[in-house]
Amino acid sequence: MAKRIQFARTGGPEVLEYVDVTPADPGPGEVRVRNRAVGLNFIDIYFRTGLYPAPSLPSGLGTEGAGEIDAVGEGVKGFAPGDRVAYAQGALGAYAELHVLPAEKVVALPEAISFETAAAAMLKGLTVQYLLRQTYRIKEGETILFHAAAGGVGSIACQWAKALGVKLIGTVSSPEKAELAKRNGAWATIDYTRENVVERVRELTGGEMVPVVYDSVGKDTWEISLDCLQKRGLMVSFGNASGPVEGVNIGILNQKGALFATRPSLNGYADTRERFEAMAEELFEMIASGKVAIDVANRYPLSDAAQAQEALAARKTTGSTVLLP
Ligand SMILES: NC(=O)c1ccc[n+]([C@@H]2O[C@H](COP(=O)([O-])OP(=O)(O)OC[C@H]3O[C@@H](n4cnc5c(N)ncnc54)[C@H](OP(=O)(O)O)[C@@H]3O)[C@@H](O)[C@H]2O)c1
Repeated sequence: MAKRIQFARTGGPEVLEYVDVTPADPGPGEVRVRNRAVGLNFIDIYFRTGLYPAPSLPSGLGTEGAGEIDAVGEGVKGFAPGDRVAYAQGALGAYAELHVLPAEKVVALPEAISFETAAAAMLKGLTVQYLLRQTYRIKEGETILFHAAAGGVGSIACQWAKALGVKLIGTVSSPEKAELAKRNGAWATIDYTRENVVERVRELTGGEMVPVVYDSVGKDTWEISLDCLQKRGLMVSFGNASGPVEGVNIGILNQKGALFATRPSLNGYADTRERFEAMAEELFEMIASGKVAIDVANRYPLSDAAQAQEALAARKTTGSTVLLP
């Protein structure tokens, strides 16, 4: 038997159960990973609450982890039991001691990167890779706006932008979070719970505004973000921490200055083995070179996944959180 977190109905953290299951054997093309650390992500909360529907119930939860290959299915090449690996995509169920997923979603983990770092970095770091390097390729000297800059994704984005010579304006909800974002390389911060974000961006950019806004807060910041953009700027809406953006009239993009808008996801970018490997390679290089340090700020036993999710949803965390099986 092996332990895992599962939920049989959607709802609050109380629907998460810590149960014994008979581990599945890997099928053709699949591997089974013995997780040493599991990543906690906001998307896990969307699945638990039902904002994103799980394919079936009861369901496992989580898509990010790192550990050793425990068994390989028929036809799997390039991985053998004992190999150190990490992953960020695949079927729900990473909140577990053992997790089965397609081998093509797994990458070899360099010795220099610990399991905890990998579990804290894969989903969030690959997300930052596509956001800053693909969705809009930020360029030296530019000023950009990035919401929730002290969070898991935000902490990595601050460092990556700084490494590229980009001035990142980060929004945060407290002086402590502002301090952290600055330490991570944010050029300026705005407390969006107290300050007028549009006015502050105008001030900080000398009236120019920004060519791109990265917005994972969703409902609460959608319109503010559009108002921070230059003419023909790009709105990157990539999350719903405050609730989903709904009922948008596309005409608003014209009213606010012939803007562009996109709603990207990791699965939309790391959609082939080739792209996934290239993105992971760039992320591992950023970590190995020390340009991006992964802040594993919070650790919980796997059995306490509900408490970990409560803290994330209540804005009590900074950096990344890992669950330890
Ligand atoms: N599309 C993708 O590919 C993709 C991939 C990964 C993550 N994401 C998104 O990126 C965001 C960050 O993910 P994460 O796991 O690293 O989480 P996180 O940033 O560590 O936590 C979310 C942060 O959002 C801010 N926030 C603003 N309004 C909030 C509200 N009403 N409730 C809760 N939090 C609120 C909080 O920071 P303050 O207290 O400073 O406001 C909070 O700490 C999430 O929205 C997630 O869905 C998207």
